[in-house]
Amino acid sequence: MPLHWIRADDYEAMSSLAAGCMFAAIERRAGQRQPMLVGLATGNTMLSLYERLAGMLNRRNLDLSQLHTINLDEYVGADGQWISADHPLSYRGYMQKNLFSRFDSKLGMNHEHIHFPNPTQPAALDEWIRGKGGVDFQLLGIGFNGHIGFNEPIPEAGISVEAYGALPSRVVGLTELTIDTNARLTAGGDHSKVPRHAVTLGMEPILAAKEILLLACFPQQREPLLKLRQGRVTPELPGSYLINHPNTTIIYAEDQVGLEKGS
Ligand code: F6R
Repeated sequence: MPLHWIRADDYEAMSSLAAGCMFAAIERRAGQRQPMLVGLATGNTMLSLYERLAGMLNRRNLDLSQLHTINLDEYVGADGQWISADHPLSYRGYMQKNLFSRFDSKLGMNHEHIHFPNPTQPAALDEWIRGKGGVDFQLLGIGFNGHIGFNEPIPEAGISVEAYGALPSRVVGLTELTIDTNARLTAGGDHSKVPRHAVTLGMEPILAAKEILLLACFPQQREPLLKLRQGRVTPELPGSYLINHPNTTIIYAEDQVGLEKGS
């Protein structure tokens, strides 16, 4: 099935559609007595979605005891471990604040079912996911450079299309631009205080997900999405790997992304 594009008028409309899709995917599997694996992303894109989704799950009282969440990424400190969850950049902290703490305890979510790739043994999560038959539903945002997770673009001269698509979960170095941005956001401009590394889910486990939902809502995401729409898979645009995925939906906020303004 080709990529399925859905236009939403704005950020709130995108978030409402996305919450509906995720709720439906979780509801379909909630009655079954087997684990359901849901891949999650952080970032500004997901803020309203998570608030809506938690509200829907609480109102409908779904049984989340079989839910396993797998986050895409987390920052890694100089000691080679995750940064502390109360670091302002921590994605574990973000998830707790924006989603997990909002679940009513009666939903039965087991906090031991919250997974993040571990920098000391990143491939272990890939094996675990494979053993469970793959991620059922993967939520993605897209970087302004087209990255998914922390799978950053690599020039075609540096890696083959196949090798990039098979990248496992791993620790990656952050670009100067990311370090600079994070320094300004969280450390008063002090580069020495910001993490230099992150651990990311690889392209392979992401692309093996049965269903993928990608959201876009910023003007800087117009370029990567226009390129993705051209239909050529390249390591220079990690998001372009979704073109060959059998069940991916992209919901975009047209007022910001402006895909219909033409290329
Ligand atoms: C986040 C992640 C990233 C973001 C992307 C968009 O866990 O893996 O790929 O999805 O950078 O981020 P925002 O939503 O902040 O624009």
